[in-house]
Amino acid sequence: MHPVNRHGARLSLRELTTDDVDAVLSIYGSPEATEHLSFTPRSRDDVDGIVARSMASATASPRDEYALALTRKDSDALIGFAHLALDPHQQRAATIGGAPRADSWGLGYGRETVRLLLALAFADLDLHRVWAAQSPLNDAAAKTLSAAGMTEEGRIRGHVHVRGAWRDSITYGILREEWAADGDA
Ligand SMILES: CC(C)(COP(=O)(O)OP(=O)(O)OC[C@H]1O[C@@H](n2cnc3c(N)ncnc32)[C@H](O)[C@@H]1OP(=O)(O)O)[C@@H](O)C(=O)NCCC(=O)NCCS
Repeated sequence: MHPVNRHGARLSLRELTTDDVDAVLSIYGSPEATEHLSFTPRSRDDVDGIVARSMASATASPRDEYALALTRKDSDALIGFAHLALDPHQQRAATIGGAPRADSWGLGYGRETVRLLLALAFADLDLHRVWAAQSPLNDAAAKTLSAAGMTEEGRIRGHVHVRGAWRDSITYGILREEWAADGDA
């Protein structure tokens, strides 16, 4: 599916463009935003490459990756990123992740971002299951994924190698019927 245009109460998802590099760098390059993520802060060159690869993957056929810009509904400026990747070895399943810029945390944007990704997954892409894996130390993500209707499912031991060590992940999941049952809650 291309292009994605999804709108929530206050936020929208759209496709990335090369004009987004600085705004993406303000998140991917931030020690605060990446503290619990599976990678360390990225350089501008890294982000140039990430945006270019994301744009290329957006028009691939079939498309298996959705790296999207999060904006306020009344503006085109990127204030966060959102990501959905189809699981290559599972039927109609995807993993999600995302981050509003740190200066907009605490406003409900994280929860709305997850809800927009779930609408993309279930309403647009007709998926069956969506999941996310987070650091056990990421309390904000745990709360946000739960607030968006996802259920803690378990622990993957030694899941991610980051900052010189293997760390576990806690997984959160939601099935299509659970999403449909709670409407746009
Ligand atoms: C995780 C993250 C997306 C939350 O974004 P946010 O916009 O601040 O979250 P919201 O305002 O929507 O809050 C959602 C819930 O999480 C809770 N929460 C948010 N930050 C929290 C924190 N640091 N500690 C504990 N709870 C927190 C809120 O109180 C709210 O809970 P409630 O519904 O019970 O009131 C944001 O902190 C972030 O981008 N972190 C870095 C990247 C990351 O960890 N991404 C994982 C995405 S799931």
